[in-house]
Amino acid sequence: MQSKLPGVGTTIFTVMSQLAHDCNAINLSQGFPSFNPDPELLDLVSHHLYSGANQYAPMPGVLALREALAAQYATRHARELDPELEITVCSGATEGLYSSITAVVRPGDEVIVFDPCYDAYEPVVALSGGITRHVPLTRDEAGEFSVDWHRLQQSLSAATRLIILNFPHNPTGAILSAHDLQTLASIIRDTDIFLISDEVYEHIIFDGAVHQSLLSNNELWQRSFVISSFGKTCHATGWKIGYCIAPKELTTELRKVHQFTCFAVSTPFQHALADYIAIKPHYYQGLSAFYSKTRDYFAELLGSTRFVLTPTKSTFFQIVDYSAISHNVDTEFASQMTRDQGVASIPISVFYDAPPPQNLLRFCFAKDDATLEQAVDNLCKL
Ligand SMILES: Cc1ncc(COP(=O)(O)O)c(C=O)c1O
Repeated sequence: MQSKLPGVGTTIFTVMSQLAHDCNAINLSQGFPSFNPDPELLDLVSHHLYSGANQYAPMPGVLALREALAAQYATRHARELDPELEITVCSGATEGLYSSITAVVRPGDEVIVFDPCYDAYEPVVALSGGITRHVPLTRDEAGEFSVDWHRLQQSLSAATRLIILNFPHNPTGAILSAHDLQTLASIIRDTDIFLISDEVYEHIIFDGAVHQSLLSNNELWQRSFVISSFGKTCHATGWKIGYCIAPKELTTELRKVHQFTCFAVSTPFQHALADYIAIKPHYYQGLSAFYSKTRDYFAELLGSTRFVLTPTKSTFFQIVDYSAISHNVDTEFASQMTRDQGVASIPISVFYDAPPPQNLLRFCFAKDDATLEQAVDNLCKL
């Protein structure tokens, strides 16, 4: 069969997790926590499973959950949302991304992404006949990544239909400021460009910084699909409950795809999350402090290795430079390290279209102390 995605293999996250499994290695590659969700939330899931919430949920999502999210965004971002018409519960952020990209992109349209780029965007653009244009983030002397807005502006063309943003950014932890949002607004003001903002790490942001959702900017909001997920926020990546927030007109188009992609999302989990938010409306507030401690502990441990760390402003990923250890290409180095040291990571080059910065790996530090200690014990031998 002639492939519709000839350049696409198996996602690096599956490849490295499988290798970690095969080598019995500590898996610091794929982005999932080793912690369980709050027992109170687990009890609510169990309650709804046994109370009969086991048939199809409404196509746009359980209304109580959408109402809970609307209340949360009104408080956090001063955005009044209509839960009926502007919030859709999706099968993880991944399905929200698929449905929104598919709703917007037509054959020949150009879509801009920022490299290093999470790998779930480009294949979906290609399936819709679109062309992905890659704008690399710039990297300063301290190794920190940020958007070069001038470069973005230069990359726009009459065919640009969509820009996909992902801040807090996987894998670099880069974040946007309110000023960045204003700059973006001024760049696209006289265009019809749509925006998709993947904000799954919205609640994991460090050192007092505040997450700047595209929802918080009046101009950008009009043309945005803002996507998030309970996976990272509730230590529940296996539940695959995400959501997409977009103005009514955009939501209508999104739902045309969503209803034939998965139709609806797991009913008991949605009810449980709705109840949980009602009981603990500030459930997400401790998350940044929690991961900031883990980030600092992991960085301290890594201090006894030869890796050089890039400062992490958000997410639960740490980028490290291994130039002092090896000049092997990162894909090979990551595989070898998984086999020989028993620690799996993600090579950064896979997130790039153009030649990437050399010798960088991503570690996921959303793990208990003992796991991080054991991993670094192994890495010290390098
Ligand atoms: C940037 C980014 N977007 C989306 C996702 C997928 O989210 P979900 O598991 O809710 O589909 C991930 C998961 O790692 C991610 O890192």
